[in-house]
Amino acid sequence: MDSSMMLANKQVVLKNYVEGYPKESDFEVRSSMISSHIPQRSKGLFVKNLYLACDPYMRHRMSHHISKDVPLLASFNPGFIKYTDVPLSYYAGILGMPGLAAYIGFNNLCSAKEGDVVYVSSAAGGVGQLVGQFAKMEGCYVVGSTSTDEKVHLLKSQLGFDDAFNYKQGNDLAGALKRHFPKGIDVYFENVGGNMLDEVLLHMNLNGRIAVSGMISQYNLKKPDGIHNLFCLISKRLRMEGFSELDFRHKVPEYLEFAIQLIREKKLLFVEDIAEGLENAASAFLVFIMGEMSESRSFKFQLTEKLKNLGENKKILCFKAIC
Ligand SMILES: NC(=O)c1ccc[n+]([C@@H]2O[C@H](COP(=O)([O-])OP(=O)(O)OC[C@H]3O[C@@H](n4cnc5c(N)ncnc54)[C@H](OP(=O)(O)O)[C@@H]3O)[C@@H](O)[C@H]2O)c1
Repeated sequence: MDSSMMLANKQVVLKNYVEGYPKESDFEVRSSMISSHIPQRSKGLFVKNLYLACDPYMRHRMSHHISKDVPLLASFNPGFIKYTDVPLSYYAGILGMPGLAAYIGFNNLCSAKEGDVVYVSSAAGGVGQLVGQFAKMEGCYVVGSTSTDEKVHLLKSQLGFDDAFNYKQGNDLAGALKRHFPKGIDVYFENVGGNMLDEVLLHMNLNGRIAVSGMISQYNLKKPDGIHNLFCLISKRLRMEGFSELDFRHKVPEYLEFAIQLIREKKLLFVEDIAEGLENAASAFLVFIMGEMSESRSFKFQLTEKLKNLGENKKILCFKAIC
């Protein structure tokens, strides 16, 4: 018996490849009808999306030269959703790609030990907030940077960072690093790149480690910033190494076991931004990931108010794709 039916399907479509900062007008929300029919004996699944993670890597896929070569979809096997006592949205955040990246990047690349001074940039983001907590579990002294005083407060008061600073305040990154790292940096977890990396190199200690997770400050630039202080790699005997969580998907079960226990014991926290409605996807992407660039004033206002009320930095975009 054919039990298929026609369903309304909403999509956010990229209208133009993006150069520089993406704009809301680069996206369009389209609606169409689709059939839920799955041919007999097919192993296909009909999937209803409830949550969509808004992640920085999406920006790469919007660029003409990169988007041709990337697979259409990289997703976690639904079989991984085996714990149901946590919010479903966690599978797009702490139990998803950002969580795995934080776990792999910190454990495989940082060689952190008790007493080490660890610096995490973009520390209030999905990856950074977890790296900071993992480093605290190892007994490190952890400092994070972010772009607002509210997020600085969040890092120190709720996420257990020893110290945090607003990298935009005073426009004096060198001074801020000097003040917050009087004894230098042993481990730098790099999420930002550009000028941040250049300045941090000067503050690294002998035999320091730099785990390169991402360089979000560079994603919208036509020409990436140059790095001038690479000689520090030699003079300070630094190890700097990049990674991609894509190479470690086999570690997902191990990571889930590790994280779920800590989440249940409330020893590992995760704060999320959740926007509702697929029509808000583009605005949410621009506000959450690329900074306050949204053209939609009302959306930005709603979000700002919501964040103020919650006192949290949340990051998952929630939408109902098929209704
Ligand atoms: N290697 C991997 O496998 C892997 C996997 C996932 C993510 N990543 C990378 O990890 C980094 C963090 O990802 P995430 O998921 O944690 O991101 P996220 O939660 O979406 O956070 C993005 C944050 O980046 C900061 N940011 C945006 N533009 C910036 C700029 N021009 N300069 C400095 N900071 C800027 C903003 O925070 P502030 O308000 O604090 O500035 C923004 O909220 C990204 O670079 C991403 O590409 C790597």
